[in-house]
Amino acid sequence: MDPVADFATDVRAGLGRAGQKELPAKYFYDAVGSALFDAISHLPEYGLTRADERLLRRNAGRIVERLPLPLDVAELGPGSGRKTRWLLRALVERQPTAYFPIEISRAALAACRRRFRRMRSLEVVGYQREFLDGVRKVAASRRGGRRLLVLFLGSTIGNFDRSEANEFLREIRACLAPGDALLLGTDLEKPVERLLAAYDDPQGVTAAFNRNVLARANRELGADFDVAAFEHMARYNEAERRIEMHLRASRTMTVRIPAAGLSIRLREGETIWTESSYKYAPDEPCRMALDAGFRSVGRWIDEEWGFSENLWLAA
Ligand code: AVJ
Repeated sequence: MDPVADFATDVRAGLGRAGQKELPAKYFYDAVGSALFDAISHLPEYGLTRADERLLRRNAGRIVERLPLPLDVAELGPGSGRKTRWLLRALVERQPTAYFPIEISRAALAACRRRFRRMRSLEVVGYQREFLDGVRKVAASRRGGRRLLVLFLGSTIGNFDRSEANEFLREIRACLAPGDALLLGTDLEKPVERLLAAYDDPQGVTAAFNRNVLARANRELGADFDVAAFEHMARYNEAERRIEMHLRASRTMTVRIPAAGLSIRLREGETIWTESSYKYAPDEPCRMALDAGFRSVGRWIDEEWGFSENLWLAA
């Protein structure tokens, strides 16, 4: 696995095409991007992360009560593991627990290890891998007689198209055995003004986060994006029920991206589509569970922001 080569390949595929140019959202999260996302999660306009954390803090005990013990925990994209601590605390009170954070960001993995270093009865084994790769590895080295709980929090699932999300969940299910569990965090539909404020904050933190993917291409691929010449755009697509973030070229330009073997032209006003963030109806995750071979056994909703945690057992 070579992260820079993967980035180059995806940049080539996403920017080297005719029609709408695109970059995958996962490339936001280098050290700068992860720090900017952390800042976003503290903005008054962006309630998603705080809602996720509130639900986990208030319901950790109830969630653990519905799980078959003993079990170990794998988490997809934990960041620094901040919001996972409540659940892990509730688990180690009942049994020694192994925790497997799966992260492509080396910095995040290190932060995660540091956070839990002193938690008694918790063993942390990090996997620097793509999500599915990581889950396959964790499941393959499963310890005898122990169940697995997979955490996919923070509505990261929202970055996938609805059909991709269903396919992804089926692939997770294929790695699991009956009785294993998945806890899925999903951001819910809410008034458009609220969503737009969350993805286009007046301080410009989200704009900086969005532009960082171009700055990262400059740093890692030797590209020459004039980052300041791109305008942050967030819009709500009502038909698809998703926020879309774009970067809009404020003038016609040529950009060279040597490590991707690419030179592109952008017209004034042309956009690079950098993220989709899907929003869900409250009952939607239950249907997704069935479709992917799970049985829904619990749901907790944060009414303040509109976010849900969904607990499923592999059927
Ligand atoms: C981490 C994917 C849940 O979609 O809200 C925050 C990322 N993008 N502000 C989201 C994000 C712009 C975030 N997720």
